[in-house]
Amino acid sequence: MPASPLVRAALIFAVGLALLTGGLALWRFATPSQPATVSGAVSSSGAALIGGAFELVDQDGTTRTPADFSGRFMLIYFGYSYCPDVCPTSLSVMTQALDLLEESSPESAARIVPVFITIDPERDTVPVMKDYAAHFHPAMVALTGSSEQVAQAAKAYRVFYAKVEDESAGDYLMDHSSFFYLMGPDGNYVAHFAHNAPPDEIAEALQGHVNE
Ligand code: NI
Repeated sequence: MPASPLVRAALIFAVGLALLTGGLALWRFATPSQPATVSGAVSSSGAALIGGAFELVDQDGTTRTPADFSGRFMLIYFGYSYCPDVCPTSLSVMTQALDLLEESSPESAARIVPVFITIDPERDTVPVMKDYAAHFHPAMVALTGSSEQVAQAAKAYRVFYAKVEDESAGDYLMDHSSFFYLMGPDGNYVAHFAHNAPPDEIAEALQGHVNE
């Protein structure tokens, strides 16, 4: 029995709405780069796509997986120690945000582990990571691994990176996406922040998420 025109119109509308909603969620997920973005800017449908298994080595040579952080929040940043500007700034922002939170709410700050994951494992060996992490938050866990291990971690967090030859320096730089990811005590995605968000705004957002 053919559906009445009204039913058909309603069906077409419903399908269109579903497609639009899905498309919007994907679009928002693919473009979380507005500098004003501080928290809660990713819809839950896109959120499920961020995060997952990794196996890396910290700056003391200890193998680390997400299970090691179970019960605590992870504030994760992907970058590389040879980065001339963005990464050191981002890791300073991360450190300042956690220092501010520590001042206002030490219990909240204690629940968050700052994590730095290199996307340049070729140069970021364990000793290099140890030296580098020492410039930032004392609790920072700095992770590296084989190219495959790093690729897997970056893929889980949907982090883009690529080597860019730098003729003048006879060396190379890394192009990479630059966000902080807040992962919950259950390992699930909670929020992301732009790398250049003001530390006090990040601190405030962290406070809110930790006390949710
Ligand atoms: Ni960088």
